[in-house]
Amino acid sequence: MKKVIALVSLSAAIAVSSNASAVTVTLACGAVGQELQLCKEGAARWAKKTGNDVKIFESPNLTNDRLGLYQQQLAAKSSDIDVYQLDVVWPGLLSQHFVDLKGKVPAAEVNAHFKGIIDANTVNGKLVALPWFTDAGLLYYRTDLLQKYGFKSAPKTWTELALMAKKIQAGEQKTNKSFAGYVWQGKNYEGLTCDALEWVVSFGGGTIVDSTGKITINNAQAAKALDSAASWIKSISPAGVTTYDEEAARGIFQAGNAAFMRNWPYAWALGQNADSKVKGKIGVAPLPSGGSRNAATLGGWQLGVSQYSKNQAAAIDLVRYLAGPQEQKIRAIEGAYNPTIQSLYKDKDVLAKNPFFGSLYSVFTSAVARPSGPTKGKYNQVSQAFSSAVSDVLNGKMKGQAAVAKLNGDLARIKGRGW
Ligand code: GLC
Repeated sequence: MKKVIALVSLSAAIAVSSNASAVTVTLACGAVGQELQLCKEGAARWAKKTGNDVKIFESPNLTNDRLGLYQQQLAAKSSDIDVYQLDVVWPGLLSQHFVDLKGKVPAAEVNAHFKGIIDANTVNGKLVALPWFTDAGLLYYRTDLLQKYGFKSAPKTWTELALMAKKIQAGEQKTNKSFAGYVWQGKNYEGLTCDALEWVVSFGGGTIVDSTGKITINNAQAAKALDSAASWIKSISPAGVTTYDEEAARGIFQAGNAAFMRNWPYAWALGQNADSKVKGKIGVAPLPSGGSRNAATLGGWQLGVSQYSKNQAAAIDLVRYLAGPQEQKIRAIEGAYNPTIQSLYKDKDVLAKNPFFGSLYSVFTSAVARPSGPTKGKYNQVSQAFSSAVSDVLNGKMKGQAAVAKLNGDLARIKGRGW
C-alpha cells in the first residue's frame, strides 16, 4: 500500500472543530513532476474553504501501475479512497465503480469543458468523472542548439527530425558523450502506446482500431512508422530509450543532454524552473509528420467519485472545486497543466506563462484519441498488445510488417465476438 499523507491545514483544523458535519475525504492523485505538490495545494484550499479534511493518497507514476492498484481497491469495494484521478482511457474500463455525476453537477459547469473530453468521460449516458487537465504529445527542442547548427525552425517531418538530431548529436558529443539527439517514451507501457500511436497516425496508418471497432493496424503505413522509429535507436536515440518513461526523458532533456524530446505539456513548466539547465532555451512544436499529418495523442486526467465512498456529497464537492476554473487556472500557471475549460485558453495570465497553449491550440483540439471508446472494457488488453508489438520492433525482434500482422491476430483474439 502506498503511503497516505494527512493534509490538514491549520485553519481547516480550526474550522473542523467548529463544524460538526466535517468529514475527511481521501483523494488519490498522481505524482509525476509537480503533480503531487499541486494536488496537495488544491486540496488544502478546498479544505480551508469547506472545513473538511483531505487525505492525499499518493499514486504510482506509471499509469499502468495506477490502474492495477485502483482496480484492486475498486474490486474490493473499498471505501478507503473517495476521489480517484482517472486517465482519459479508463472510463470505459471502470465506469461501474463511479458515481454518475450527471444531475449532480450543474449542466453549465459540465458544458464549460471541451465537449470531446466530456464525451470521453460519458459511458452509456453516465458521466463517470469531471475533466481536470488534458494532455497532448508535443515536440520539445533546444532553440539555442538549432541556431548553433544553422537550423531555422523545428522539424516538420520525422525525416527532418532525424537529420537535425544526427547533426546536433555529432557536434555535441565531441564535448558531451552522454548527449542524445532525440529522447521519448520507449518503455513497454501505456506511454509507448501514446508515442507509437502518434507515429502510426502521422504516417497515415490509422488508429489501431477505428471508431466502428474494426481492427485496422495491419497495414503498410503502420509497419513503416514502426520501422522508422526503430531506426532511431542507437542512431539519434540512446539504446536506453527502450526503458524510458516521461520522467526519464524529461530528466535527460532538462539536464541539457538532448536536442529533442517528446513529452506532455507538464515538462514545459519544469523546464523553465530556476534549477533547469535549459531554462529559456526551450521551443515547443507539433510532433513531426510521417507524410500524412502531425499527430498528438490525446491524454489527460479526470476526477471521479467512488461508488463505495462513504462521503459522496463532500467528495463531489471536492471534484467540482478542483475541476473548476479557479483551480485549473492555478494549475495551468504553476504546472503547465492544460485546462479542460475552453475559456481558460483566452486567459492572459495562462497564456503569458504558457505561450504554446495559444500558438499550438489546434494541436490540443485535434489530438488523436486512443481506441478506448470502441474497445471499451478491453482497451487495456488492446493497448498492452499494441505496446508489446511496438516494443518487439524497437528491440529488433521483429520487422514492422511482421509485427502488425501478428498484432492483428492478437487483437482479433482479444476482440472475440465483440468488444
Ligand atoms: C499522461 C497522459 C495519459 C497517458 C499517460 C501515459 O499521463 O495524460 O493519458 O495515459 O501519460 O504514460
